[in-house]
Amino acid sequence: MSKIKKVAVIGTGVIGVGWTIRLLAHNIKVLAYDKNLIQRNILIQEIKRAVPFVKKLFNKKNINLNNLKFFSSLESTVKDADLIQECAPENYKLKTQLISQISNYCKPEVLISSSSSGLLPSRIFSKCKNSKRGIIAHPFNPVYLLPLVEIVPGKKTSSKSLNAANKFYKSISMNPITLKKELPGYLSDRLQEALWREALHIINEGYASTEDLDRAIEDGPGLRYSLMGTFFNFSFGRRKSWNETYA
Ligand SMILES: NC(=O)c1ccc[n+]([C@@H]2O[C@H](COP(=O)([O-])OP(=O)(O)OC[C@H]3O[C@@H](n4cnc5c(N)ncnc54)[C@H](O)[C@@H]3O)[C@@H](O)[C@H]2O)c1
Repeated sequence: MSKIKKVAVIGTGVIGVGWTIRLLAHNIKVLAYDKNLIQRNILIQEIKRAVPFVKKLFNKKNINLNNLKFFSSLESTVKDADLIQECAPENYKLKTQLISQISNYCKPEVLISSSSSGLLPSRIFSKCKNSKRGIIAHPFNPVYLLPLVEIVPGKKTSSKSLNAANKFYKSISMNPITLKKELPGYLSDRLQEALWREALHIINEGYASTEDLDRAIEDGPGLRYSLMGTFFNFSFGRRKSWNETYA
């Protein structure tokens, strides 16, 4: 896979806008498409709002807005792209059909990357031409601000595609983590859901108020979680290196 200079962003809602801003800030050309034309104005407004602080964040003197081009057909958007970032609504049928169409129109070897926040890649890439190039790259909102991206392989995804994806997302100042195999909901959202589920049980059984449950995170472990993950947190003060076991 050659160097990625042009990225097609398909669907310019909340996440498509976020990707567009991050990509423009890293001098990548963005080829944007949304089936709803009104999104074009929203995209421009959001870019103008975010540009001043995104420049500071990435230490850029300028962000070249001429690198953004909006298209009115899917085919013309993806045909010359070096990577496709799909950002359409979270729905198996819609994404499977859309990715199949994209794969018919784009170059045969380019990465097709879905922003899905929990769907299984083997299912949404099941009708993709050359599905070994299909991956999930799940970002976190706002995409231009948060560095995490979860890369999830489907059963047919090649290691070449995973390596290329890792390299590319690092090049736009992200911290990719690659799952060993696919699971619904991936990693970060599953951890958040576990906490949410427990909070709902506690409320349901009448042990505490919602305010106190929020403070139980905000004033204590939340401060640590902003710096340390689950394993690091539980071994706080004991661990000497990442390789130490937790048994
Ligand atoms: N919102 C979040 O916090 C978040 C975080 C991470 C990942 N995601 C994932 O990103 C994806 C997009 O989510 P979102 O929040 O941006 O949704 P959104 O509803 O804000 O945007 C979706 C956009 O896709 C467009 N669209 C619908 N069908 C299309 C088609 N066939 N072709 C082109 N465009 C089409 C819509 O017009 C809309 O503008 C979903 O898979 C979602 O799970 C969302």
